Amino acid sequence: MNNRSDTSPTLVRLSEYRAPAWRVSQVELTFDLGIDTTEVTSRLHLQRDPAQDAPLRLDGEGLELLSIALDGEPLAGDAWRYADNVLEVDGARDGSVLETRVCLRPAANTALEGLYLSGPRERGFLLTQCEAEGFRHITFFPDRPDVLASYTVTLCADRDRFPVLLAGGNPDGQGELEGGRHWARFVDPHPKPSYLFALVAGRLQKIERDYATGGGRAVKLVIWAEPDAIGQCGYAMDALERSMRWDEEAYGREYDLDVFHVVATHDFNMGAMENKGLNIFNAKYLLADPDSSTDDEYRAVEAVVAHEYFHNWSGNRVTCRDWFQLSLKEGLTVFREQQFSADMNSAALKRIEDVALLRRAQFPEDAGPLAHPVRPAQYSEINNFYTATVYEKGSELVRMVAGRLGRDGFRRGMDRYFARNDGQAATLEDFLGALGEANGIDLMPYLAWYAQAGTPRLSARGLYDAAHRTYTLTLSQHTPPTPHQPHKQPLPIPVKLALFDRAGQIMPLHLTDDSAETSGATERVVVLDRAEQAFVFQQITEAPVPSLLRGFSAPVILECAYEPADLALLLRHDPDGFNRWEAGQQLAARAYDNLREGNETSALDAWCDALEALFNDGAMDPALLADLLTPPGEIELAERERQVDPSHVHALRQQLQEHLALRIGQSTLQHRYESLAAHASLQLDASNQARRRLKRRVLELLSRIDPWTAHAQATLQYDNAPSMTDRLAALAVLVRGNASQAHAALAHFRERYADNPLAMDKWFSVQTQLPGELVLDRVRALEADEAFTLKNPNRVNSLFGAWARNNPDGFHRPDGSGYQLLAERLKQLDALNPQVAARMATAFNGWQRLEPGRRALARSAIESVAAHAALSRNLNEIVQSMLH
Ligand code: PHE
Ligand code: ZN
Repeated sequence: MNNRSDTSPTLVRLSEYRAPAWRVSQVELTFDLGIDTTEVTSRLHLQRDPAQDAPLRLDGEGLELLSIALDGEPLAGDAWRYADNVLEVDGARDGSVLETRVCLRPAANTALEGLYLSGPRERGFLLTQCEAEGFRHITFFPDRPDVLASYTVTLCADRDRFPVLLAGGNPDGQGELEGGRHWARFVDPHPKPSYLFALVAGRLQKIERDYATGGGRAVKLVIWAEPDAIGQCGYAMDALERSMRWDEEAYGREYDLDVFHVVATHDFNMGAMENKGLNIFNAKYLLADPDSSTDDEYRAVEAVVAHEYFHNWSGNRVTCRDWFQLSLKEGLTVFREQQFSADMNSAALKRIEDVALLRRAQFPEDAGPLAHPVRPAQYSEINNFYTATVYEKGSELVRMVAGRLGRDGFRRGMDRYFARNDGQAATLEDFLGALGEANGIDLMPYLAWYAQAGTPRLSARGLYDAAHRTYTLTLSQHTPPTPHQPHKQPLPIPVKLALFDRAGQIMPLHLTDDSAETSGATERVVVLDRAEQAFVFQQITEAPVPSLLRGFSAPVILECAYEPADLALLLRHDPDGFNRWEAGQQLAARAYDNLREGNETSALDAWCDALEALFNDGAMDPALLADLLTPPGEIELAERERQVDPSHVHALRQQLQEHLALRIGQSTLQHRYESLAAHASLQLDASNQARRRLKRRVLELLSRIDPWTAHAQATLQYDNAPSMTDRLAALAVLVRGNASQAHAALAHFRERYADNPLAMDKWFSVQTQLPGELVLDRVRALEADEAFTLKNPNRVNSLFGAWARNNPDGFHRPDGSGYQLLAERLKQLDALNPQVAARMATAFNGWQRLEPGRRALARSAIESVAAHAALSRNLNEIVQSMLH
């Protein structure tokens, strides 16, 4: 590895951004592909910025330089220097052409960055991953996103071993070479940054579809996979077509090349990658069939296919000036995908899922040692900043701005943004500037959200004045300090709200100073843009129940002294599914507090009563009901504790579910389960998915109060399941309950899916959900399984990731044995794949708030990682931030 940090790591700072002294207008690349060695010849057409006189410096990591020539002349050894990952060349002028030839070793590349081999050497294929800084592992280049060049790429390889040769752009010829070799050329007419370069070569099969854009361009859509997986690509193809159509309709954005290639690989560090014209996917987010994929996985495939496709405009046509602007493409593209998924499926369920993710992944990040702004001010290793904050919180910021502009205004602003920045590398200022100018609104106050880390606390107090029939809502905000940011400023917080009367009817709203046009609406947005502000509603005939932050209108933590009965009223009567869920989550959190404190049960009673009523309300959508019946997760509940004992949090959450199950009643649950189970089906439509979701939830609740019956039913469900959704749900109930039947079911599953890597990942991860005191031995047994390898990121995540993140009680063992195991594996993993190791290390996030015993044990485990020799820059940055 080339980024081992023996000295203290250098920080890259946003404030030190400088335009490049040298640009590249055109790149010609020729690859002589081989599994053990690949030769890359590159010709760079250089442009010098006349205002700067810096020497030509190119990035290059781990490259074996074979030859170098400038303007056709081989360069003498004293005319260039290659050290510390920089190649410095003397004598280059504006218009010069630099030609280099380097040797790469794809089969030895376990970091999965640059050019690498996916799969076994006999039948695997070659591919590249360049974001963020992988291109410098392929050739010498100014490897920064503000250098945009047009690419001509020629691939040469043995025809038998590499029958398929792909690169981004349009095809531009192919032919035979001597010795059983062949070549193919691709030209990308759209200038792009180096991180969007990609190639793929190997034995792949394809499915194809013809697509015509609204503007009449004929596009060939091609999905490529290894022979055993090509049959699972049909759903992704449908999703791709839906995404393309949607982007035309919702944003007026069309595809801009003659071909669009998508490739699936089992060896990938992330979810997927939007390389221009050649998207590469982690197979987990591309392959789907009912026998091996769950409903949730189908939705994830649709979402990720859409996300990568949408990048063609938000990311590729308009890219980022520097990596500090990462959220410019990621936050925006997550938001676009969320809109798309809401349109394709249920908008309320999508919002619930996304807000739950934000709270589970982003809020803890923002509250811990790794907290950083959506636009970080500095980094040591950029790969550590592909975070929930940049992606999910970044999307919430776009959502706030979009809400401020309204549908048409946002579209107008986006049109302006795309038109003005097309073909360029932009900043968040360019984004907010274009959106604001197109609408005559100053959006720059929202920049503060991008610069400030931490989740704001929003407090609300309501005061009803019966004599004047006014209701005064006082909102205030406060953001706790985060690392390097002790003082916080007030942010503009849009609060969407409604008021309900005691019968659960929504009230018309008349704000003081209202215009005639907005007065009388039942839902309004007020913007809190200072520390505290009061809003007065007129003509209010009784003390109302406020419904605040509707649709989760800002990524904040709401603190409001609701009476449990008020939340129960919203949970039962709010017409909007998301708001109803939100009221239920708040009520469940208060019920959790009741159980912890043990002196009072009004919230617990209100929560159980309301859900019992909803359970028996035949008009409820089963999917929404399933979500309403799910209390906040353990990670979220732990955020309510001063000192976290994960075993105690787990036990309390279990009790919460037991109370709920008992209130609904064993026989009612049983009855519902049976009626849902009677119609088990393979169909993927919304109503079948909804019934499966509720069936799973009901079975889980039953297992809390009548494990014996529930395990018998789960076994039946496992044996007869028509789909993976039902099969895995049943298996999870057996494993979580440590049922005697689990053993046989797991053995059966393993046998049945031995050749299906994505299903085997589920076999590993489901077992990490064993009860806390049992799981560590199982994790040890599983890592000794012949199907386990530290070299495959999906397998690593499905074992160690699922254990450390999704089973807090099982990871945070009181004796620290979980911490030690993870620390040891992190050291081994880091030697193979620094990106995956660094991301896995973030499972220690939150350690400072553990109860003292665990805290000390966690600290020493993290310190043992920090003390390990030759840590990668990636892992080093994470553990150092954790400890300081
Ligand atoms: N840009 C990819 C996406 O979000 C994520 C990614 C980052 C993939 C870095 C690989 C490497 O769509
Ligand atoms: Zn993305």
